[in-house]
Amino acid sequence: MTNTILIVGAERGLGLGLAEQFLVRGWSVVGTARVGADTRALRALGADDPARLSLAVIDVTKRSDIAPLLDELGDRRFDVVYFNAGIFGPVHQSVTVATDDEFAQVMLTNTFGPIRLAHHLLDRLEPDGTYCFMSSHRGSTAINLEGGLELYRASKVALNMLARGLWATNRDHGPRGLTVLSIHPGWVRTAMGTLDGTVEAEMDLEPSVRGIAAVVERHRGSGENLYRDWEDRPLDW
Ligand SMILES: NC(=O)c1ccc[n+]([C@@H]2O[C@H](COP(=O)([O-])OP(=O)(O)OC[C@H]3O[C@@H](n4cnc5c(N)ncnc54)[C@H](OP(=O)(O)O)[C@@H]3O)[C@@H](O)[C@H]2O)c1
Repeated sequence: MTNTILIVGAERGLGLGLAEQFLVRGWSVVGTARVGADTRALRALGADDPARLSLAVIDVTKRSDIAPLLDELGDRRFDVVYFNAGIFGPVHQSVTVATDDEFAQVMLTNTFGPIRLAHHLLDRLEPDGTYCFMSSHRGSTAINLEGGLELYRASKVALNMLARGLWATNRDHGPRGLTVLSIHPGWVRTAMGTLDGTVEAEMDLEPSVRGIAAVVERHRGSGENLYRDWEDRPLDW
């Protein structure tokens, strides 16, 4: 049977690249975008085999988008849900400069929104299904010896922690329990990775998403909670 993945935030950047990777690997893909987003590139991926790609709508910061999404998904069940949507936040990244709204927006988008949605999607995930969260090496407490990037780091370290909690409290989701993968994609040439073209990132999109797809295929259904990069190297929490 065809494997099925739901990718949250799939119409550009890493999410779009992941949608393409999983389609190439023979999966069925449901990709989400926000209302009004340009979904032409995502739709184009389904040109050869339209039955394996569909679109849905969710803004992870909007509680009111959750029920319509669940309706839109109908009785579909997923082998993997990949929570990719995220923002960098203000360029200054400083807790001493940030407004309440700036900090709240980063946390709402990168942490609370995806985890809240994950709770609502649990019964749409197959037994022994897998949740993937787009983390970052910036979400590691252990390797943060240089400081900086405070807002973004806070959101990703909190994402890692709440993802761990989801894993720990759903050990009965199928015989092996819920699998939760927190994945660092590398520093990738996307709008976020280049701060909208103002800085140089380290790598292209394709090797990142190819590596991530391999990591997902390797560990899905294992019942573990892992923090890995796109090359499957473990990161210290
Ligand atoms: N690029 C890197 O070097 C890098 C490194 C480490 C981690 N990451 C993580 O990888 C993920 C994707 O990043 P990217 O580089 O592909 O960034 P990107 O090109 O800026 O794309 C961000 C994606 O997130 C979506 N999104 C933002 N806010 C959303 C919301 N409230 N609800 C739903 N979707 C929302 C965007 O949709 P819209 O088009 O509607 O804005 C877009 O699809 C993020 O979680 C990021 O933190 C990236």
